Amino acid sequence: MSVQTAISRVNIPALRKMKQQKQPIVALTAYDYSFARVLDQSGVEIILVGDSLGMVVQGHQTTIPVSMEDMLYHTSIVSKGTDRALVVMDMPFMSYSSVELALENAAAALQLAGAHMVKLEGGLDQLHIVEALARAEIPVCAHIGLKPQSIYKSGGYKVQGRGAQAAVQMIEEAAALENAGADILLLECVPKLLAAEITANSEMPVIGIGAGNACDGQILVLHDLLGITPGKPPGFTKNFMQDNHDIQSAVMAYADDVRSRRFPAEEHSFT
Ligand code: KIV
Repeated sequence: MSVQTAISRVNIPALRKMKQQKQPIVALTAYDYSFARVLDQSGVEIILVGDSLGMVVQGHQTTIPVSMEDMLYHTSIVSKGTDRALVVMDMPFMSYSSVELALENAAAALQLAGAHMVKLEGGLDQLHIVEALARAEIPVCAHIGLKPQSIYKSGGYKVQGRGAQAAVQMIEEAAALENAGADILLLECVPKLLAAEITANSEMPVIGIGAGNACDGQILVLHDLLGITPGKPPGFTKNFMQDNHDIQSAVMAYADDVRSRRFPAEEHSFT
């Protein structure tokens, strides 16, 4: 890799600068080489190899069956398709249940699959894992709000952080994760005003999905943007293929709407 290539890749300082300059960050999921190339060439800053692949690629009902092997394979074919985007690999269910396991699996994400960052779900209960990864210089995206890997305990895909006590708890979680060394925060299905407050009080970039348009950036599951998710799409998503004739135009329309804060609109946000 040339020095020039290494420098032009989106990195953590570049994302922090975008936050400081109030330039919205565009993120999307991808699971293979060809889609990763389209996203990369459309100027998407972050490509997440989400464990949503369990649902949109493998046809499972939840993300729980996704294995570390699946994630490493899909991340490796995504990273081959990128020159510029920061590639984030989701740590699948139970792949970070101890510090040792988290370090081993996150190292594999970076060394074997070509990821630049790992994402894990969890709040105060995962601080020791985030700290250990940060100490090992492994970039971390922490994911709070709706946590699909906890679906059997939380009882469904519902908005999180409603009510004063839950909101305060989420604000505290975000601050603790940042102190533990998280580089980015992903907020899923959180009331718009709460997400705005967490974003304003964090130095780390905050990326939202179903969290209103005040976050530092937005992410969608690619299949939702393309309108091909099986079943009824979640209310916070938008099918960008409806007004566009090809996939690259749809991705670029999404990127434009995120950068101008037209997406998410009120109808894609929760109160
Ligand atoms: O797995 C996934 O796709 C996610 C979404 C919240 C973007 O984590």
